Amino acid sequence: MIPLSLAEVAAAVGGRLVAADPEARVTGPVEFDSRKVGPGALFVAFPGEQVDGHDYAARAVAAGAVAVLGTREVPGVPMVLVDDALPAMGRLARAVVDRLPGLTVVGLTGSSGKTSTKDMIAQVTAGLGETVAPPGSFNNELGHPYTALQAGPATRYLVLEKGARGVGHVRYLCDVVPPRIAVVLNVGVAHLGEFGSRETIALAKGELVEALPADGLAVLNADDPLVDAMATRTAARVVRYGEAAHADVRAVDVTADERGRAAYTLVTPEGNAPVRLALTGPHQVSNSLAAAAVARELGMSVTETAAALGALRLVSTRRMDVFDRADGVTVIDDSYNANPASMAAALRALADLGEGRRSVAVLGYMAELGPFERDGHLEVGRLAADLGVDRLLVVGEPAAPIHEGATAVRDWGGESVLLTDQAAAVEVLRSELRPGDVVLVKGSRYRTWEVVDALRAEATTGGGAA
Ligand SMILES: Nc1ncnc2c1ncn2[C@@H]1O[C@H](COP(=O)(O)OP(=O)(O)OP(=O)(O)O)[C@@H](O)[C@H]1O
Ligand SMILES: [Mg+2]
Repeated sequence: MIPLSLAEVAAAVGGRLVAADPEARVTGPVEFDSRKVGPGALFVAFPGEQVDGHDYAARAVAAGAVAVLGTREVPGVPMVLVDDALPAMGRLARAVVDRLPGLTVVGLTGSSGKTSTKDMIAQVTAGLGETVAPPGSFNNELGHPYTALQAGPATRYLVLEKGARGVGHVRYLCDVVPPRIAVVLNVGVAHLGEFGSRETIALAKGELVEALPADGLAVLNADDPLVDAMATRTAARVVRYGEAAHADVRAVDVTADERGRAAYTLVTPEGNAPVRLALTGPHQVSNSLAAAAVARELGMSVTETAAALGALRLVSTRRMDVFDRADGVTVIDDSYNANPASMAAALRALADLGEGRRSVAVLGYMAELGPFERDGHLEVGRLAADLGVDRLLVVGEPAAPIHEGATAVRDWGGESVLLTDQAAAVEVLRSELRPGDVVLVKGSRYRTWEVVDALRAEATTGGGAA
């Protein structure tokens, strides 16, 4: 963070100083967990339902906090008083990024792959200059300002994923930290329950490119018609990426190796270069092209970009994490989250890794699909069968239509079973897994975590993307 006096903090957030020295300087960080507070910090007290941050205000000051940003006075504690600490933190983040003219903000959104692609872009920009990006999926009205407040005078790139659960959410996040480069990955059916329709999802995601200045850049997925069409919603220049012929940054001659890792020729207006990814999954082609388009905008040559893409590694856990166990079983841990599009990508990766091996898919419920819930699950089951998965373990009654979808495929040579819970799936795996098998584990959030954690605990080698 850049140092700010308490008077500047109060002005930025529209707050009032109480028992505080206006000249005292906050040098950062800005923390809402009092255990992370050290000298020079600003502590943000949120009035939680279980724990009230104000109860930790004195402790934060004792640990070195210059003041506490909160909504009520605490005796003996220097305070910046506001009506609501969350938007106040957003305004403070905005004040900080506005004071950093040398900072390039890259924002990205989409239904699937925000965190994976954020990790890719941040790895690419880290080779060019100091980069700040959040860990994991810290993409909401708290994670956003929290991350932005870590940017300081030496920071060159701030890479932020923008999650949306409704119209106006991305716009709000763009007010907090306005992007200069905006990447839209795809419009799927994730969170369809909240949004109602894909068109509404496109409306919400497109707010990202609407927020760009005229000298900004919109990076759009040419392979997704709803994203492609967002070109009309921005004042900024547009660069398209994808496998489509009209994309500016393209992948051609895509192949996958026995580990499901893609290789392709990167085609740009400036020239071509071969790319060999170390990450598993066909969707990494699209995500890495998005990163390539950003790299190009930041001045990297096509050869440098291809090398940077080849050097990408897995950063956030439970996403396409392939590991080998000592018993010769290969596990694809893609259990972080699931929707029909990411299930399809993962099943295709399983098919690639499963060439000449027995393939097993342990699939759990996909949350938040709203009216598409039944069809979404049926579709995933059918795809698993169509791709020739040998053994399907469907975990939990809510995921039953996956089992139905698979068993309805007439000439499928595999077998599906519907299991009551994760413990049952672990039991089946223990008795059935043989050396050489490859197992995909995937579902929404915690719904298959126990399964993959059990498989991992039994592994004595591997971990991380191979
Ligand atoms: N382009 C893509 N298309 C389809 N699936 C993808 C794509 N990129 C990543 N995935 C898969 O989607 C799942 C979620 O990935 P990731 O966490 O990167 O997405 P996210 O958009 O950040 O999700 P969230 O909304 O939970 O933050 C993972 O299983 C990942 O392998
Ligand atoms: Mg995410």
